[in-house]
Amino acid sequence: MKVPLLDLKRQYRTIKPEIDTAIEEVVESQVFKLGPKVTDFEDRVAEYCGTKRAVGVASGSDALLLALMAVGVGRDDEVITTPYTFFATGGAIARLGAVPVFVDIDPLTYNMDPGLIEQAITDRTRAIMPVHLYGQCADMDPIMEIACRSGIPVIEDAAQAIGAEYRGRRAGSIGALGCFSFFPSKNLGGYGDGGMITTDDSEVADLLISLREHGQTLRDGGQTEMYHHWTIGLNSRLDALQAVVLAVKLRHLDEWSDGRARNAAYYRSRFEGSPVMAPHVLPESRHIYNQYVIRVSNRDALREHLKENGIGCALYYPVPLHLQSCFSSLGMGSGDMPEAERASAETLSIPVFSLLTEEERDYVATTILGFVRA
Ligand SMILES: Cc1ncc(COP(=O)(O)O)c(C=O)c1O
Repeated sequence: MKVPLLDLKRQYRTIKPEIDTAIEEVVESQVFKLGPKVTDFEDRVAEYCGTKRAVGVASGSDALLLALMAVGVGRDDEVITTPYTFFATGGAIARLGAVPVFVDIDPLTYNMDPGLIEQAITDRTRAIMPVHLYGQCADMDPIMEIACRSGIPVIEDAAQAIGAEYRGRRAGSIGALGCFSFFPSKNLGGYGDGGMITTDDSEVADLLISLREHGQTLRDGGQTEMYHHWTIGLNSRLDALQAVVLAVKLRHLDEWSDGRARNAAYYRSRFEGSPVMAPHVLPESRHIYNQYVIRVSNRDALREHLKENGIGCALYYPVPLHLQSCFSSLGMGSGDMPEAERASAETLSIPVFSLLTEEERDYVATTILGFVRA
């Protein structure tokens, strides 16, 4: 049997008529950048995430960059974040000439350890950027408590976590800004790149609307004035085609995330009592399982075994950011972030998508258990 890590063709087959109609409407209208379809989708995302506003942008990476710009991060400022994440988290900080200040992760959730933040704050700290890795919110109460006490804004990298909940609040509605990615493999994935920034602050949302169109001046009614620039932004608009695809998919998102959670519960029961460590879920949380990541001591051998048996799997992420050669100027080395380094060596992402069949998930669990028990 072959089991892919993710099969988006199966998903498309279930929503084909809705998607095809939505795409055709945009092509008929010939309005491809921003416009009413994008505004409508922004309103739906704001409602879904529980924020007043949402601003569509070209990718999750741009969402992070623009959010950092919106809180005024610039050259030589510091932003506290996690080294155990996709590159964009640290890349966005460095792209602005600021310094990513990494704090190690909690070994159970793989998210930023809030107990390490306070000692990383200096008079140059301009933001704290936790990542809701794999679809589970970071432990936000202590993070928000430190941030509020220090007067530092929190930007949530919620790229992997749309719909995740932490003590009754949705990802993207807890900090000052939330950043989302609609990369195709996300729970809410487009047919190309896309991103969104959520916020309760209308002034910040208006600033983002201006920044995403090269800093064009915002006029009454929410439109920017072409060729009049009050500041320097970038070209980062959400496409109407992506917005309509995503609007269709948003209607199915909870059903799909619940399907992932059912597969996760199945794996948990199969792995109980075995050497396979299942994901640790914080109490009063909703994990949306963008990735289902197990932890084993002989990870590389298990990975080979799964490949040989036709099971898709992946490493998220093999090299933590503090060890990436592009960040060598930070002067960090092996052993500086021990939990992130251990997680990079021992974790493995396995298939969890909602349309996985019972036969497939049984085959995945049986193959893994057969290997670790041998
Ligand atoms: C944690 C995290 N941050 C940022 C991003 C960047 O998003 P995008 O690929 O849409 O630019 C991703 C996407 O993979 C991500 O997983």
